[in-house]
Amino acid sequence: MITLFIATRNAHKVEEIAAILGPQFRYLKIKGDDELPVVVEDALTFAGNAAKKAETIARTLLLRGAARMPATEPGKFFVLADDSGLEVDALGGAPGVHSARFAAIDCGMVGNSADAENNAKLLRLLANVPQAARTARFRCVLALVEVDRAVPLQSVRLFEGACEGWMDFAPRGKGGFGYDPLFIPLGHEQSFAELGEGLKNRLSHRAQALAKLGAWLLA
Ligand code: IMP
Repeated sequence: MITLFIATRNAHKVEEIAAILGPQFRYLKIKGDDELPVVVEDALTFAGNAAKKAETIARTLLLRGAARMPATEPGKFFVLADDSGLEVDALGGAPGVHSARFAAIDCGMVGNSADAENNAKLLRLLANVPQAARTARFRCVLALVEVDRAVPLQSVRLFEGACEGWMDFAPRGKGGFGYDPLFIPLGHEQSFAELGEGLKNRLSHRAQALAKLGAWLLA
């Protein structure tokens, strides 16, 4: 069975990835005592950040030697990293790669902002923008690297997905995370936070990127 080491500390993303890809893969995730580096996401693109995360974690695991590598059968596995975010057309594509720390960048704070603060900032910036001009999309880039002790690190493979929609005037719904309460996917009238996990996991940017990745892994 193919093993995927999911290089994120966001538990919600791990759950979404496993729910979408299903039981034909085995999933490993970063644990508190793994001593893996925290990768600074300073690239200008989702692809750059995803590739940096996957390569850094894969190289660290490979350099550790057999004793501290995840035990897998066969003796190789893939590191999978995701970088994703929201692009709002009326804001020139912002928050983009800054999606997780959109509110914090105003005050020069390091680290991510609370979802409610990011959503409040977005609503403030879009206050005078009419519905027709509130178009947006979630974008996801997945980076995959094979880790095999017998060979040098392979190059990163990228898979991309996007989900078009628009930004509502107020948050709606309790599900999901991040900007889900504000995002209405095209062809629907409810937000991602109202539509529920099952439907979100069929429509989302991550679902589309994962469908491409799954097809490549199983080909
Ligand atoms: P990352 O962990 O650096 O990829 O940050 C992604 C950020 O983009 C998250 O913290 C959310 O704010 C936003 N985001 C990405 N995917 C989603 C999603 O599926 N729903 C809502 N917000 C998302």
